[in-house]
Amino acid sequence: MKLAISGKGGVGKTLLAASLARRFAGSGYSVIAIDADPDANLAATLGFAHPEEITPISELSDIIEERTGARPGRSGSFFKLNPRVDDLPEQYSARLDGIKLMVMGRIKRGGTGCYCPEGVLLQALLSHLLLQRNEVVVMDMEAGIEHLARGTARAVDKLIVVVEPGHRSIETALTIHKLAQDLGLLSISIVGNKIKTEAEKEFITASLPSFDFLGFIPYNQAIIDADMAGKSVFEASCRVAAEIENIFRKLLTVTQNG
Ligand SMILES: Nc1ncnc2c1ncn2[C@@H]1O[C@H](COP(=O)(O)OP(=O)(O)OP(=O)(O)O)[C@@H](O)[C@H]1O
Ligand SMILES: [Mg+2]
Repeated sequence: MKLAISGKGGVGKTLLAASLARRFAGSGYSVIAIDADPDANLAATLGFAHPEEITPISELSDIIEERTGARPGRSGSFFKLNPRVDDLPEQYSARLDGIKLMVMGRIKRGGTGCYCPEGVLLQALLSHLLLQRNEVVVMDMEAGIEHLARGTARAVDKLIVVVEPGHRSIETALTIHKLAQDLGLLSISIVGNKIKTEAEKEFITASLPSFDFLGFIPYNQAIIDADMAGKSVFEASCRVAAEIENIFRKLLTVTQNG
């Protein structure tokens, strides 16, 4: 099962990505969590004690040079377009509770798809993780999903777009839907988050009439309080956990139905 999670800033992508990664790992699945947001904070949400000690892949200059033949930032050099990456997940992931976390990192110029050594290495790595491995992959992405190249986008079993009550995150969801279609990524579902009232839920379903919904996560102050206190957000709310459980079960039926 390969999952990608996207949506407008602040809607709850990282919370959902971390919750699903933990839930799959809790059932004994081998899970790779990918933080593909340049402003990475999946490690902290997953509960890693020292997220700042995890070096993003884009900053492994020696490895990038060894594998591509060119050092990041050095212009005018030739480099390999198909670097070896299959050993990187074992060596350069942080581990916690059955989850391997890979932090992709920021690329100085252009997007992740940029024609530069670090961009090429990240592309090759994403492609390897999505196409050639059997783990469950949960990828936390920013709203732009452009760094899923054509070939890799098709390997995503489900793109989950998180929305909150409000027009802006709905607009972003529609834009992501269009980008995804252009990339050939056809299976998209919505998760509504931070829901306070039945009317808010109805607003979201009415605003995205032709979309599939995986679930609606209630707004819960306990999540914010846990976050501020530096505590685990996962034990913070039973109602949130119950809805994550529903979403997890629905996702299992997605793969069972092919
Ligand atoms: N259901 C919820 N109830 C209350 N607070 C929530 C809920 N979901 C997320 N939050 C809070 O909203 C904030 C944003 O959540 P999160 O970081 O998961 O969003 P994001 O989409 O990944 O944001 P970014 O775009 O910055 O990466 C966090 O402080 C989080 O604790
Ligand atoms: Mg995030």
